[in-house]
Amino acid sequence: MNYSHQQAPQQERLQKVIARLGIASRRHAEELISEGLVKVNGRVVTALGTKVSPQDKIEVLDRNQKKVVRRDSVGEQVKYIYYLLHKPEGVITSVYDPQHRKTVIDLIRQDVKQRVYPVGRLDYDTSGLLLLTNDGDLTYRLTHPRFEVKKTYKAWVKGRISAEAIKTLQEGVKLQDGITAPAKIIKVQQANRGNSLSVVEISIHEGKNRQVRRMFEAVGYPLVGLQRIAFGPLKLNNLKPGEFRPLKVQEVARLRKEVGLNTTEY
Ligand code: URA
Repeated sequence: MNYSHQQAPQQERLQKVIARLGIASRRHAEELISEGLVKVNGRVVTALGTKVSPQDKIEVLDRNQKKVVRRDSVGEQVKYIYYLLHKPEGVITSVYDPQHRKTVIDLIRQDVKQRVYPVGRLDYDTSGLLLLTNDGDLTYRLTHPRFEVKKTYKAWVKGRISAEAIKTLQEGVKLQDGITAPAKIIKVQQANRGNSLSVVEISIHEGKNRQVRRMFEAVGYPLVGLQRIAFGPLKLNNLKPGEFRPLKVQEVARLRKEVGLNTTEY
């Protein structure tokens, strides 16, 4: 702050810097600033027009005034960033594909310059919520079966799914690599005129390869579509296929809390 023009050619608006660092969207960053939750060089800044330089130290606090993020210099690489992507069908969950198919990283590359990795995977033909981050501890815990993070899917099958198939999904399905843990069936609806499709909302906490597809196949209803609509406390909501957004500070805290990680200093 308060640098002359010559001294600080790289000055940027505070909310833009916070957004670029992946701490919050620009609008959310403006809210954090207005609410007095952002400090620059140890002093609370509430003016939205405030400009900062790479030398400035930025701190973002949560509503309990606990430190959430600290940057000793905004010019440095941010430690952790978190994005929620609506992965479209026909895109591979990988950072590189030897067959040169489009990857989830291709979708965000233009806006996200830092290296991030997908948290777990969605099949090429599955759409929906995919988290991308460089927070290795969080990724490990979110994908390790021991932490039993709940994943919810919308599954489309042909025809009217039988009560017996639903019961088997709820009790556990015998697959080649073992019996699945009981799944929670949240909703079953008929789609299309003539009830030609059933839509089943199902939650599981395991992460076997192609698990949901194999579970439905095993009960006699191969899937015609699959979308992940929730991952732990995160929901896909209205994000369109191919769209992505940074997680809010509170969302990161909820995710980390879910798997027993510190929610204030990381
Ligand atoms: N289960 C599947 O079968 N596919 C996915 O992409 C995710 C879960």
